[in-house]
Amino acid sequence: MKENNEASRRGFLKKLATTAAAATVGSNLIAADNIGSFHYLKQQYNSIGANDQVNIALIGAGGMGTSDTQTALQIPGVKLVAVCDLYDGRLKDAKTKWGADIFTTKVYKEILNRKDVDAVIVATPDHWHQQISVDAMHAGKHVYCEKPMVHSVMEGPAVIKAQQETGKVFQVGSQGVSSLGNEKAKEILKSGAIGELNYAEGFWARRGAVEVWQYPIPDDASTQTVDWETYISNAPKRPFDSKRFFRWRNYTDYGTGMAGDLFVHLFSSLHFITGSMGPNKIYASGGLRYWNDGREVPDVLLGTFDYAKAAAHPAFNLSLRCNFVDGTSGTTYLKLVGSEGSMDITWDSVTLKRNKAIDNNDPFYIEKMKQMGQAVSGRKMMLPPEQITYDAEKGYLGGPYDHMNNFINAIRTGGKVTEDAIFGYRAAAPALLCNDSYFKNAPMFWDPEKMKMLKA
Ligand SMILES: NC(=O)c1ccc[n+]([C@@H]2O[C@H](COP(=O)([O-])OP(=O)(O)OC[C@H]3O[C@@H](n4cnc5c(N)ncnc54)[C@H](O)[C@@H]3O)[C@@H](O)[C@H]2O)c1
Repeated sequence: MKENNEASRRGFLKKLATTAAAATVGSNLIAADNIGSFHYLKQQYNSIGANDQVNIALIGAGGMGTSDTQTALQIPGVKLVAVCDLYDGRLKDAKTKWGADIFTTKVYKEILNRKDVDAVIVATPDHWHQQISVDAMHAGKHVYCEKPMVHSVMEGPAVIKAQQETGKVFQVGSQGVSSLGNEKAKEILKSGAIGELNYAEGFWARRGAVEVWQYPIPDDASTQTVDWETYISNAPKRPFDSKRFFRWRNYTDYGTGMAGDLFVHLFSSLHFITGSMGPNKIYASGGLRYWNDGREVPDVLLGTFDYAKAAAHPAFNLSLRCNFVDGTSGTTYLKLVGSEGSMDITWDSVTLKRNKAIDNNDPFYIEKMKQMGQAVSGRKMMLPPEQITYDAEKGYLGGPYDHMNNFINAIRTGGKVTEDAIFGYRAAAPALLCNDSYFKNAPMFWDPEKMKMLKA
C-alpha cells in the first residue's frame, strides 16, 4: 500500500511539474474547466414514433404502484389500461385517478390474460413479487417489478429462469441506479478520483409513525372489501388481520424488514457504481427498541458486508445502518471511501471530497521539485478545491423517471435494462441474508458470482 501511495505521489508530482497545477491535481475530473463552474450532466431522452404505444397494467395499486404508474404515464406513448388490487378502495381510487374506462379486478391472472396489455408493474407486497413476475413473463408480458425482487433468497433463480426463457424485458424497481447521481458517481470512481475503494457506508434515519410503517387502516377494512384468502394463499394461513394486510412490512410472511425495504436500494446503487456482484460475507445485529406494536422485525438494524477482491473492484467493506427511532429523521446517505478521497452520492448530486492538498512547504515536495529541476519559490499557489459538488441540471426529471424510461425504451427497442433479474437478485440476496443473519444470530456466506449460498 505504501508503495502504491509512493507511486501515485510520484506520478502526481511529475504531472504537477509539467502542467499547470490546478489543472492536473488528481484526475481529469478536477480539470480547470470543471472547477470554477459546476459540471452538469444532461440526460437525453428518445423521441418515439406513432406505433410505439406501450399499454401497461398495474398490479398492486398502493403507494408505490401509484407512483410508478404516474411516472410511466409521463413517458410519451404509455397508456394505462388495467389495474389489479385486492382491496376495493384501491380499485375505486384507480378509476377516480385514471378514468372509469380502466379495467379493474382483484384477480391478477385476468390482467395477464388481456391481449391489450404489453407490460405490467408489480407493486404488491414483497411475498407476491416472484409468483406474479414469473406468471406475467410466461403470459408474454414485460415486467417492472418493485424491489426487493424476491421475498426470500430461494425465490431468485425462478425469476432469472423466467426472464431467460421468455426473453421478456424485466426491470427491478430500485430507481436510483438509473439516476444522473449514480451515473456520475460511477464515472468519478472509474476516473480514480477517490483512489482505491476500501470502504462504503449507507444509512437511513426515520422517526414518524407512518415513515416506520404504521400506516392508517381504512375504516371499511374487512373480508368484504379485502380478498384476504388470495393475499395469504402463498403464506401461512391465518384469520383476517387488517394490520397484516395494510401494515405488511412489519411481518416476515409478507415483508422483508428494513434490509429488504431499504438496504436493497443501497446495494443496487453500490453495485451499479462499482460494478460489483455483491458481498461474500454478511452479518447483522440490531433490535426492537421502541415500536412494540406487534412487529416481527427490528427497528434498529446494522449490517456489515465483506466484498472480496473481484475483477471490477478491490476488496472493501460495507456498513449499512437503519434506525427507526432516530430523532434526526429524514437523513439518508451513501458514501464511498477510497485511498485519495470520498464521494457522497444521491440521485441528483455527488459531492467529491479529496484529502490531498498541495503543501509547498513540504520538504519531500521541495526535494522532489529540485530533482526535477523545478524551482520552488515559496510563493503560495492556487489550489484546486478539496470538495466539489456535481448537481443535476435544474428541471432534471429524476431517477424514477429515468428508470421507468429505461424500461419502456428497452421494450420499444429490444434493448437492455439497468436492473435485470440477475442484477436485481444480486442486490436483493445480501439484503435478505442480512435478515437471515439477524434472526439466526450468525454470519451468512454467499457466492455473489454463482448466486449461491455457501455453508459457514
Ligand atoms: N422503489 C421504491 O422506492 C419503493 C418505495 C416504496 C415501496 N416499494 C415497493 O413497492 C411494493 C409496494 O409497496 P407499497 O408501499 O406501495 O405498499 P402498499 O401497501 O401501499 O401497496 C401494496 C398494494 O398491493 C395490494 N396487493 C396485495 N397483494 C396483492 C396481490 N396478490 N395482487 C394484487 N394486489 C395486491 C394491496 O392491496 C395494496 O394496495 C413493495 O414491494 C415495496 O418494497 C418501492
